[in-house]
Amino acid sequence: MELTGIRFLDELAVENRPVFCRVDFNVPLDGKRVRDDARIQGALPTILALRQAGARLVLASHLGRPKGGADPAFSLEPCATRLAELLDDEIRFADDCVGEGVMRLVKDLPAGSVAVLENLRFHPAEKKGDPDFARLLAQPFQVYVNDAFGTCHRADASMYTMVQHFQDKGAGLLVQRELEFLGRLLANPQRPFLAVLGGAKVSDKIGVIRSLIERCDALLIGGAMAYTLLKAKGIEVGKSLVETDKLDLARELLSLADSRRTELLLPSDHVVAPSLESDTVMVTEGAEIPVDQAGFDVGPQTIERFTQKVGQAGTIFWNGPLGVFEKDLFRAGTHAMAEAIANSPAVSVVGGGDSAAAVKKAGFTDRISHVSTGGGASLEFIEGKSLPGIEALRAGHQF
Ligand code: 3PG
Repeated sequence: MELTGIRFLDELAVENRPVFCRVDFNVPLDGKRVRDDARIQGALPTILALRQAGARLVLASHLGRPKGGADPAFSLEPCATRLAELLDDEIRFADDCVGEGVMRLVKDLPAGSVAVLENLRFHPAEKKGDPDFARLLAQPFQVYVNDAFGTCHRADASMYTMVQHFQDKGAGLLVQRELEFLGRLLANPQRPFLAVLGGAKVSDKIGVIRSLIERCDALLIGGAMAYTLLKAKGIEVGKSLVETDKLDLARELLSLADSRRTELLLPSDHVVAPSLESDTVMVTEGAEIPVDQAGFDVGPQTIERFTQKVGQAGTIFWNGPLGVFEKDLFRAGTHAMAEAIANSPAVSVVGGGDSAAAVKKAGFTDRISHVSTGGGASLEFIEGKSLPGIEALRAGHQF
């Protein structure tokens, strides 16, 4: 993706001007507490820089997928509270994202202060990219900053439609960093370029698997999606999760890898159990899984093969856990992958909530070159798709 025509923070005049900064505070909550603040922390450099530069800063985000209007369970107030703790400062909170109250709040906001608006998705018009809603959202502001990388694949009003109302628009520091690191995977990655994919379904990641087969030297696949590929090769996978309607597609992907001479490594042993609830597990001797068992993690031999491959890589991209890592019995594969990548001197990029959470849980975040805050957005970027949130920032973009 070309970055031409996109301005970054240091090119925007923000002093004493009302700035709308779209962030991605779509974080997991435990009631009224933020369970994982990684996305809030991710936006901190931009928030600090804009505050330092004397902006009258207003942050806006969606949280979850509320159905049909305001719902307190999806309020952004816990995020505002967490942000106030992180900044050790007072944050104003508006109970809506448009209207008289917001107009007043923005007018009275002193330079260097920060306010947070209520969940954008409390207005169904946000998801529809509605132009009237977009105009209302933009009304109180003079500058638009997008630091919501995780939402850049959505053409929502706050990500796309409203941007046409700004001459002064640009990308925040998080978006800039994401584009730089993910961009390095697409343009001239240091070889061998290795990708590790996991997660439940092949069907969720078809585009990205195709794209990676074409770009990588080796593709390592774990997680439940591996069972569909193994079955497509005629290997018995017992009761494991298989997308039977995707077997032809899986064969097509296997033959694409063959014809592109991309090494495609699948698990050669598994941690299996009769069901996810069982507390007795066993390790298979080979790639076959007994008919009364289901695979829930990769086995030790696979971990060794995968770890060795990771050790030889020049660039690594990882998305998706290799097993049901939320359960202690099935987390070894995902943990080992996080450790192998942390130990590797390669440029490493981890994308997606689950793999990022696994890296964090294992305490390796600092040893990964870049942990992306985007799941869907980073996959669409790797697929080579254009992201509406980024396109809107280009000078002269036609809306
Ligand atoms: C994400 O978590 O992927 C982003 O915040 C986008 O959320 P959405 O999938 O609900 O649009």
